Amino acid sequence: MQTSNSPRDSFSSRFGVIAAAAGSAIGLGNIWRFPYETGVNGGGAFLFVYLICILLIGLPVMISEFLIGRSAQRNPFGAFKKLAPGKPWFLIGLMGVVAAFMILAFYTVVAGWTLEYIYQSFLGTLKDKDPVELKGMFDSFRNESYRPLLWFVIFISLTGWVVIAGIKDGIEKYTKVLMPLLLLMLIGMSVYVLTLPGAFKGIEFLFKPDFSKLSSEVVLKALGQAFFSLSIGMGTLITYGSYIKKKENLGATALSVAGADTFIAVLAGVAIFPAIFALGNVQSLDVSSLADEGLVFITLPSILYSIPGGQILSTMFFILLAVAALTSTISVLEVIVTYFVEELKLTRRKATVSAVLSVSVLGVLSVLLTGVFGFLNFTSANILLPLGGLFIVLFVGWFMSRKVTLEELTNKGEVRARFIPVYLFLVKFVAPIAIAIIFIYGLWSAF
Ligand code: TRP
Repeated sequence: MQTSNSPRDSFSSRFGVIAAAAGSAIGLGNIWRFPYETGVNGGGAFLFVYLICILLIGLPVMISEFLIGRSAQRNPFGAFKKLAPGKPWFLIGLMGVVAAFMILAFYTVVAGWTLEYIYQSFLGTLKDKDPVELKGMFDSFRNESYRPLLWFVIFISLTGWVVIAGIKDGIEKYTKVLMPLLLLMLIGMSVYVLTLPGAFKGIEFLFKPDFSKLSSEVVLKALGQAFFSLSIGMGTLITYGSYIKKKENLGATALSVAGADTFIAVLAGVAIFPAIFALGNVQSLDVSSLADEGLVFITLPSILYSIPGGQILSTMFFILLAVAALTSTISVLEVIVTYFVEELKLTRRKATVSAVLSVSVLGVLSVLLTGVFGFLNFTSANILLPLGGLFIVLFVGWFMSRKVTLEELTNKGEVRARFIPVYLFLVKFVAPIAIAIIFIYGLWSAF
């Protein structure tokens, strides 16, 4: 990314934009966080609310971030300063930087776990273990301090290295091959688990909503998960929007990104829930005993190792997962680095090193103290991102010039964007009111 005084780069093609934004959106949020949040919060009912949140709130916020970024041509902080000079809207950008720190400090810990699982798969230690043993392995690994810490440091350094070296182009080239491969693996795993006895119960759990499971806290968590998974609410996509060419159709781009992200999350659910029930005849295993942060690290190895060539498949899967996580950590770190470079006038190298070091301090605490990990995970997704999203839609709905908004959405009349009246209604009324209500009730019951 460029500083504000050099000419701005842009994505070279429609596919380039979608691939980069989808690379940010698709990550551990879909494959690690979505399944266990769904498991803990009641299955189908959670999924139902999640999908509504994506459609009525997430999509409008995403379009708003893109259009703010593209019209301002700045980082989030600078964008609000430019579009609303002398007004406090730039605080949204600042809140985004804080959220980025918090997200990196727990997300990179989980990304580190994927490295441990690549290593363990490679060694073959996950072979011939039943789910109960795999759960034991996961729990004891997590309670250690040395190894999780080491993997965390490796992963955050890797992220910093990619951001400094500016080799994102290189990464993008690999991502374009590896992400479709991840998709294929997930499809293959989903099809396979569906053939296992007992699988249907998992599908039922995922898709049959039991609305008695709904509470205001569950709805808040579905909203938080939607924001987290789409990478919205902290300005990542404002930054990406500033690199989108003027001729691209913002609405269509957002729709593709949100569609791909949601599809992958649901697919991960289809691969995982039937597996839990199919494996469920093993002792006391049920959703409630499994559905925590270890879910993916327990169920996926057990599915993969029941297929011939399991060791290779498992190694491959965790490599792909680590790559998906890396394209997301890069996009989060980029928010902090761009802010340091453009607003504090640090060089890119200094900015990245200071960001990595300060994230590491918080990260060490979140590796060692489960309470800190949980706090960062809960607060960033369920509080900071929805709050950021609320202000973003309020900004576009009530503050930003309507003329600029319409120009951005239609590319100055070049494209017909028939969704505009619906979009405006959503950003002015539906999204802000819904976020505010969910937020107040959800926090009320959570604390
Ligand atoms: N969406 C990513 C995932 O699902 C994580 C992520 C990347 C993110 N950038 C973000 C979350 C910005 C919130 C805001 O894994």
